[in-house]
Amino acid sequence: MAILVTGGTGYIGSHTVVELQQAGYDVVIIDNLSNSRIEVLDGITRITGKRPHFEQLDCCDKAALQEVFARYPDIEGIIHFAAFKAVGESVEKPLPYYRNNLVSLINLLELMPEYGVRGLIFSSSCTVYGQPTAEHLPVTEASPIQPALSPYGNTKQINEDIIRYYIGSGAPVKSVILRYFNPIGAHPSAEIGELPIGVPQNLIPYVTQTAAGIRKELRIFGNDYSTPDRTCIRDYIYVVDLAKAHVKAMDRVLHTPEAEPIEVFNIGTGHGVSTLEVVETFERATGVKLPWSYAPRREGDIEQIWGNVDKAAKVLGWRAEANLDDVLRSAWHWQQRLQEQES
Ligand code: UFG
Repeated sequence: MAILVTGGTGYIGSHTVVELQQAGYDVVIIDNLSNSRIEVLDGITRITGKRPHFEQLDCCDKAALQEVFARYPDIEGIIHFAAFKAVGESVEKPLPYYRNNLVSLINLLELMPEYGVRGLIFSSSCTVYGQPTAEHLPVTEASPIQPALSPYGNTKQINEDIIRYYIGSGAPVKSVILRYFNPIGAHPSAEIGELPIGVPQNLIPYVTQTAAGIRKELRIFGNDYSTPDRTCIRDYIYVVDLAKAHVKAMDRVLHTPEAEPIEVFNIGTGHGVSTLEVVETFERATGVKLPWSYAPRREGDIEQIWGNVDKAAKVLGWRAEANLDDVLRSAWHWQQRLQEQES
């Protein structure tokens, strides 16, 4: 049985391919390499001993997608990661975000029944909850969906709706929607990890590049929030734990007849950690001193969010296992590996 992983050379995608292969699935990757490198396949192969099938194409190209389904008739499930994901860029260039993120999903959904593909795991985000009010923290899957703060976040909401209405219309497809909190860290082998192109926007790659001396100083955005140490709070989930949740989700859509046709799960640790705590934990776990200072708030930032993850534990039998020290060390080892490769 094969699983199609769109965006499979990307950050979360590559870690998920590893876990799928280690669970015995055959994997076909589709990626247009717009935000990832082909060498990721070598990293995956060194970890698992098996090279996944790879097709370079854009999921917006329906004819090309169709050829892939025809070439691999044993595809039974899809994990759809391929999407644009930079929040700030989506505000500046909304139309490419809507086109890419919506058309890719629609193409896949249209082709699924034609090729007898039954299961879809969709990468959503806790961004659909916006800033939850205090009584909704930690957020559950039933917490209100709030107006999106960016076109990127809006595409996740619309994509969830598209899947919901499509399955509601009686389409022969089952889906699990995973709402990720903040994925961080790298594979313990340091063979794969996050590859930010240009100046990182996300916290952890900025931290590791600062620790490595590539960036002069980390700016902590905002120290006037209504949180215990006045910095923002997030639920940082280890990317390998997150990848494992996809294997559980795939097993559920394909092999659990009693599962509802569409199910939604929060995928996080269940704990909120502040930006300052991340910085302090990084220094303690790695022994590396991090130059940092406070800076004004970043526009569009949510003050605090973390997830209630009981549903994933109960229904999927999945829980985050890694501790933050180990996860931050894995991110640091990956940064060091990247520098070795460049030198
Ligand atoms: N931060 C800093 N300095 C930096 C970078 C980040 O202080 O240089 C802070 C941010 O202000 C925020 C926290 O670190 O408080 C995390 O920021 P990230 O950019 O790493 O992550 P976000 O929570 O903003 O966004 C991430 C993903 C989105 C996703 C969202 C869901 O990038 O794709 O989580 O909440 F939608």
